[in-house]
Amino acid sequence: MAYLNENYLKLQAGYLFPEIARRVHEFCEANPQAAKRVIRCGIGDVTEPLPRAAIDAMKRAVDELGKRETFRGYGPEQGYEFLRSTIAQHDYRDRNIDIADDEIFISDGSKCDCGYILDILGDQNKVAIPDPVYPVYVDTNVMAGHTSRVKSDGSYENILYLPCTADNGFVPERPREHVDLIYLCFPNNPTGAVASREQLSSWVEYAREHEALLLFDAAYEAYISQPGVPHSIFEIPGARECAVELRSFSKSGGFTGVRCGFTVMPKTLLAKTESGKKMPLHPLWHRRWSTKANSVSYPVQRGAEALYTPAGGEQVRALIDHYMGNARILRAAAAEAGMTAFGGINAPYIWVKTPDGLTSWQMFDRMLRDLNVVITPGSGFGAQGEGYFRISAFNSRDNAEEVARRLERLC
Ligand code: MLT
Repeated sequence: MAYLNENYLKLQAGYLFPEIARRVHEFCEANPQAAKRVIRCGIGDVTEPLPRAAIDAMKRAVDELGKRETFRGYGPEQGYEFLRSTIAQHDYRDRNIDIADDEIFISDGSKCDCGYILDILGDQNKVAIPDPVYPVYVDTNVMAGHTSRVKSDGSYENILYLPCTADNGFVPERPREHVDLIYLCFPNNPTGAVASREQLSSWVEYAREHEALLLFDAAYEAYISQPGVPHSIFEIPGARECAVELRSFSKSGGFTGVRCGFTVMPKTLLAKTESGKKMPLHPLWHRRWSTKANSVSYPVQRGAEALYTPAGGEQVRALIDHYMGNARILRAAAAEAGMTAFGGINAPYIWVKTPDGLTSWQMFDRMLRDLNVVITPGSGFGAQGEGYFRISAFNSRDNAEEVARRLERLC
């Protein structure tokens, strides 16, 4: 009999979103009338159709594949040059950030990159992860065997949790001790918080002092509305020597189902061997892609490229404005219902303190039972998320307004 990967046995419960879906399914089965009224503000999944520019580009690309003269087989493992150069130019060089085309690696999304990147990082790393945060960071480290025992409070030994609370504006403080690998996510999922230039500079300074690596998840950068808030870790001097950035077209171009994202891996970024020899990570990342994958499909990469055209850019802007309009409505409704609400200004998530001392899952049950609204329990993002819940603004305007009306009933 084959041996299984016992690291998977250390995982806590199921992955958060399937667990929510399971509970909602159970509720709907037991309450068929209420089931018809259920509005989902749980998982941050887009609801609006794809931008026209992306649809047209993908159709054209499929047609090319249908003709001998324009047919293409395997593409470059790192992604097509046309997309890598478009990204490097528009997202970075046009903003005075020094990123070369071959420092961009196209992938099927940020969630996937979170798992893939651990292929090239050692097991010895002391890992720091904000709490609460996107649960994929912890779970992928557990699966990779980077954690040992799970403690009675559900946290893992070997992970240093960085508390993100209302007191620190949901931006973690630098640890007093040494760590090797630090996850940062701004705009933040789930709190919607952003980090200032000073705060990110301080993290870059820490990483350089400790020769640590920052994994900077900027999947929601397109939602930043306030001027002066950094969109990329590479806006901070020195970040090329200590950071990898993860980005996604899921929430900007509505590609959650299409699947496309990318990592920025500077060639100047070093990590060390057991014997202390410093080596660049870029060739390892390239090797990982060429051995294990063939990037994403040609039509998808053409679709992503089209998001950078003038028409595509306007359509992306309209999508983001739509979701952020929902966010304003939902945040105001939560506040009017007497709850303390954060986020929703630079991110499509509203982070709300549960009323009446309810736990996050009690609030989940109450919202589902009494309002027929699905939210995400804050504790699913980490221990510090207990006592909070997240409302996703990814929805139609009608649904957002209906949820706002239903929230009044909590007053
Ligand atoms: C979320 O709801 O936190 C996200 O949609 C999950 C994801 O992007 O994988």
